[in-house]
Amino acid sequence: MISTDLQGHPEISSLSPNQHILPLTAVNNGSRLEIGGCDVTELVKQYGSPLYILDEFTLRTACRQYREAFHQYYPGASQVIFASKAWSCLAVCNIVASEGLGFDVVSGGELYTTLKALELSGLDPHNHIYFHGNNKSVSELQFALDTDCTIIVDNWLELETLVSLTQKLPSVKKKIMVRLTPGIECHTHDYIKTGHIDSKFGFDPQQIETVFRYISKQPSLEFIGIHAHIGSQIFELQPHQDLPQVLVEWSKKATAYGLSISELNVGGGLGIRYTATDDPPSINEWVKTVSESVVAASKTHDLPLPKLIAEPGRSLIGSACVTAYTIGSRKVVPEIRTYVAVDGGMSDNPRPITYQSLYQAVIANRMSEDVSETVTVAGKHCESGDILLQDIQLPATEPGDILVVAATGAYNYSMASNYNRLPRPAAVLVNQGEANLFLRRETYQDLIQQDQLPSRLVQQK
Ligand code: LLP
Repeated sequence: MISTDLQGHPEISSLSPNQHILPLTAVNNGSRLEIGGCDVTELVKQYGSPLYILDEFTLRTACRQYREAFHQYYPGASQVIFASKAWSCLAVCNIVASEGLGFDVVSGGELYTTLKALELSGLDPHNHIYFHGNNKSVSELQFALDTDCTIIVDNWLELETLVSLTQKLPSVKKKIMVRLTPGIECHTHDYIKTGHIDSKFGFDPQQIETVFRYISKQPSLEFIGIHAHIGSQIFELQPHQDLPQVLVEWSKKATAYGLSISELNVGGGLGIRYTATDDPPSINEWVKTVSESVVAASKTHDLPLPKLIAEPGRSLIGSACVTAYTIGSRKVVPEIRTYVAVDGGMSDNPRPITYQSLYQAVIANRMSEDVSETVTVAGKHCESGDILLQDIQLPATEPGDILVVAATGAYNYSMASNYNRLPRPAAVLVNQGEANLFLRRETYQDLIQQDQLPSRLVQQK
């Protein structure tokens, strides 16, 4: 059972959110789970289930910890940008921007969402947006140029396309960074590794000098620095210590082509605690490691300190959210397994079926009851692999109980689908006893919104 003994904790804002399975405000109040001062069982009564419940305090705390740690450990300028792929929607963009973070976007859709959020919130629309992607379309590149994003160039086709798009207006230089494949291995799921040489992202080390030479001759592009991202859900600090050294070495090479590096972007990747055995370093430790490594490498290569950019996603928002489901049917396979089914599954959380990700869960209306059985929590999709939690220990449950899966803030809503035509769930923001809907539940009408029925298929009477 997850410890929810946080009530009365004197300094919860000093806890690193990524080291906690439940949001920082989670408490057991009379055997009921409360998050952000709201009773989870009541939230489900009001908003239905499945329901994403996002704790504003935990999200803001993570943003602040990143920012403050850079101020503490990095003597140069720094900027934390939110990898919005983790959860791109108006309310989340608003909160992270209001905490002073910039954005990493990887598509026209993420850029559009971010710009809309900034515009509707009255925040600066040109606040540090970095545009990533290994196959940006011409229209996405144009969109990024028109909105003054810094473009993180991934490959030759993109570089040449950018030159042709920008050379009509060479007087207004457009900011670019170059993404490099650093050749650094880390221990995480193969699908979320990106820094190894056999990766689809970025220029490989043999090409770098040719890239620098080419860029140095482009009057329409302003080269500002280098980027690399080694992967996601990483618990080791060593690869994050190694990466800045490799990047600064490449920065030095760039100077030979007359290019100066004003920014260094070390990507994201810090892991979070999904289960009791996960043991990620804190946000503070991660920032300290990265900062000290950049300072040391810059000294070794006699380079001025660059503006240091980090782009976390999961460790900012993962632990801030839970998903609440209503328990339904039960199937007992004698001497093999007991399945307990919930009203969502792989459509609202595709991570278990995609990466065999493990989660932990509690029963929101039975928080003080002892665990008494081992069950497998199944989703409701027509797919045998639609299992949210395999063999977990829970108190005895009944249909109608509220099962809460923890740490679902990163890459859950953003990878959600309508498989089996399930409407996507609603999401509520909770804070100090107040709950506000920020993503409404899809309706059946929403599901057929994009459908077109060709007229020749309609029976003529
Ligand atoms: N920067 C770049 C260039 C990235 O590709 C990513 C994540 C990040 C930053 C943020 O990484 P984070 O701090 O969140 O680890 N869908 C997968 C995760 C894919 C990560 C993709 N890139 C999952 O659910 O685990």
